[in-house]
Amino acid sequence: MPFATDLGRVLCIITGASKGFGRAVAKAMARLVKPGSLLVLVARSGDDLRALQAELSESDAGKAGIKVEVVVADVGQTDGLESIIRTSKEGFSENIDHVILVNNAASLGDVSRYTKSFTDMAEVDSYLSLNVSSSLCLTARVLQAFPQHPGCRCTVINISSLCALQPFRSWVLYCTGKAAREMMFRVLAEEEPNLRVLNYSPGPLDTAMQVEARSKTADPSTKRSFSDMFAQGQLLTCEASCAKLMKVLLEDRYTSGAHIDVYDV
Ligand SMILES: NC(=O)c1ccc[n+]([C@@H]2O[C@H](COP(=O)([O-])OP(=O)(O)OC[C@H]3O[C@@H](n4cnc5c(N)ncnc54)[C@H](OP(=O)(O)O)[C@@H]3O)[C@@H](O)[C@H]2O)c1
Repeated sequence: MPFATDLGRVLCIITGASKGFGRAVAKAMARLVKPGSLLVLVARSGDDLRALQAELSESDAGKAGIKVEVVVADVGQTDGLESIIRTSKEGFSENIDHVILVNNAASLGDVSRYTKSFTDMAEVDSYLSLNVSSSLCLTARVLQAFPQHPGCRCTVINISSLCALQPFRSWVLYCTGKAAREMMFRVLAEEEPNLRVLNYSPGPLDTAMQVEARSKTADPSTKRSFSDMFAQGQLLTCEASCAKLMKVLLEDRYTSGAHIDVYDV
C-alpha cells in the first residue's frame, strides 16, 4: 500500500515550539497537514512563538487555511496545561480527523553535579514535575478532552533520547526523567491499543540544549564526547531529524509504544 502524503486534518499540539526541535516540528507539520488543521504552539517565550505563528501564517500552509494558535505557558504548571486544553478546544472543529500531541518540551537539569549531590528533594521534584509529570498530565488531559471515536485517530509522540536507555555520568536528572517518561508512554500504548504512541529519539541536535550539555557537564569524558561531536560536525540539524520523524509518522508502520531512533530511520 502506498504511504500517506499528509497527516490529515489535524489538531496538533506541540510543546516547546519556541525554538530548537519543537520549532522544526511545527514547521514540518504545517507542510504535511490538510487545510482546516489547527496547530497549537506552546512555550514560555511568547515573542518567539508569535514570530513563528506569523511566519507560518504567511507561508503556503497559512494561505491554504491552516490555523496557528499560540499558548504562552509553563507546561510545568497546572494553569499552563489548562490553557493548552482551553485553546485546543476553542479551535477544534468536527472536521478534524487526527489529534496529534507532541510532548517535546524538556529541560536538561543541572548536569554540573554528580548524583550524590542531589540531597534536596524539592530540587529533584521540580525537575521531575516539568519533565515527567507534566507530559503525563497533559497527555491524560488531551485524551479526555478529545475522546477517540470512529473517524478521528490520535497519535501521541514523546520526544525521547538515548538517555532514556543509557546512563551518562553527571546526567542523573535528565536520564531519570527520559527513562521514566518513555516507560509512561509504553504503558499508555499497552493500555490504549487504538492510540498510536511513539517514542522518538531525535539524535544529537544543534540546539541550545547541546550548548548547555557541552559547556556545563561535570563528567570530563561525557563533556568531551559532546564537544567532539560538535567539533567534528556530527550534530544533526533539527530539520534533518524532524524529516525522519515525519517519515515515520507518514509511513505509520511502527509498533505503538516503540522507541525509534533517528539513526534507525
Ligand atoms: N538537543 C539534543 O541534542 C537532544 C537530544 C535528544 C533529545 N532531545 C530532546 O528533544 C527535545 C527538544 O530539545 P531541544 O534541543 O530543542 O531543546 P531546547 O533548544 O532547549 O528547547 C526546549 C524547548 O522547550 C521549551 N520549554 C522548556 N521548558 C518549558 C516549560 N517549563 N514550559 C514550556 N515550554 C518549555 C522551550 O521554550 P521556552 O524556553 O520558550 O519555554 C523550548 O521551546 C527535548 O525533549 C530534548 O530532551 C534533544
